[in-house]
Amino acid sequence: MKSTPSKFGKTPHQPSLWTRADALKVHADDPTTTQPLVSANFPVLSDEVFIWDTMPLRDIDGNITSVDGWSVIFTLTADRHPNDPQYLDQNGNYDVIRDWNDRHGRAKMYYWFSRTGKDWKLGGRVMAEGVSPTVREWAGTPILLNEQGEVDLYYTAVTPGATIVKVRGRVVTTEHGVSLVGFEKVKPLFEADGKMYQTEAQNAFWGFRDPWPFRDPKDGKLYMLFEGNVAGERGSHKVGKAEIGDVPPGYEDVGNSRFQTACVGIAVARDEDGDDWEMLPPLLTAVGVNDQTERPHFVFQDGKYYLFTISHTFTYADGVTGPDGVYGFVADSLFGPYVPLNGSGLVLGNPSSQPFQTYSHCVMPNGLVTSFIDSVPTDGTGTQIRIGGTEAPTVGIKIKGQQTFVVAEYDYGYIPPMLDVTLK
Ligand code: FRU
Repeated sequence: MKSTPSKFGKTPHQPSLWTRADALKVHADDPTTTQPLVSANFPVLSDEVFIWDTMPLRDIDGNITSVDGWSVIFTLTADRHPNDPQYLDQNGNYDVIRDWNDRHGRAKMYYWFSRTGKDWKLGGRVMAEGVSPTVREWAGTPILLNEQGEVDLYYTAVTPGATIVKVRGRVVTTEHGVSLVGFEKVKPLFEADGKMYQTEAQNAFWGFRDPWPFRDPKDGKLYMLFEGNVAGERGSHKVGKAEIGDVPPGYEDVGNSRFQTACVGIAVARDEDGDDWEMLPPLLTAVGVNDQTERPHFVFQDGKYYLFTISHTFTYADGVTGPDGVYGFVADSLFGPYVPLNGSGLVLGNPSSQPFQTYSHCVMPNGLVTSFIDSVPTDGTGTQIRIGGTEAPTVGIKIKGQQTFVVAEYDYGYIPPMLDVTLK
């Protein structure tokens, strides 16, 4: 792929490849990489709203942070419409499945707080109506900046277009709860460039979203991960030897897999405040393998870079497949080369008996993995389902070298702080 000249002079790295051969090693239902069954009797956070992508407040190094003893999470959120005639079926019953499936188009950023790291109380919307420049407020990352409680919320402003933006506000605590103030001025940061990252003009199904800023523990600079697709007109990508990898005889046919072009993007900040960014070539590409590597994030452990990203069954290319869940890659330095964890990349997938039970997993540095409940079968055949729109049970994984293991299960939406900041 082509890359633009960088302030690094020479392009600093070649993207690592998640190959078709790697993906052939993905197997659903391996107990060490499968999320325990979620019961259809789950509790819901709220009867008023659906929530999905969950973004715990953290510091720039990735540590989940409480303030004055209060844990805070941000969630993509949409109203439930049980009484809206638009969401009644022919028999006058609430069509919750349609309401849930439509949620992305009206996603807004909300926040919740808790004393216990679970039992979340609804705080409300982060930005007032009219503050965010687009219809959809899609996923990102809230960063606690200092002891004054300042927070930079990086997120994706979608429809029209898709722009990585940020908005600064402040978290305020009392004995009784948490409120967010400010969050009034949204600053656009960057959009896909068409040279490294695919634009809407190149592909109507492009993805460019989900910023995750961080400080590199080794070089100390400010960077940001995001989800993208590899630049180029839809259908023009080549799935060659490198993308196919070392496959057994009979597995050379790539079908229509040139349409799947996901990548994990990276940008470097030109300033200390993270107001001025330069996009760099992707860290990882999945051309010919998968079309979405969403919500990329890191865990820095044992001097290594553990890169996690979520993906779906339906976004896999012809001839390869895997469960909805979180996938991971590991490298000794930020720019790679990255190797798929567990050989395949799969870290925590849904069991095949409940393929949509959870999604949007976020692996935290303490090995806890949070996600939301999407839908759970209620009748054993999978024809009847219960829609979630709420927090899933948290799962514990152990990360060991190039392997991961499921080792524990915790309460619904359990996101304990790793450090507490006392506000001044
Ligand atoms: C993951 C995701 C994100 C996106 C959001 C849109 O669940 O697809 O990539 O920001 O949901 O609702």
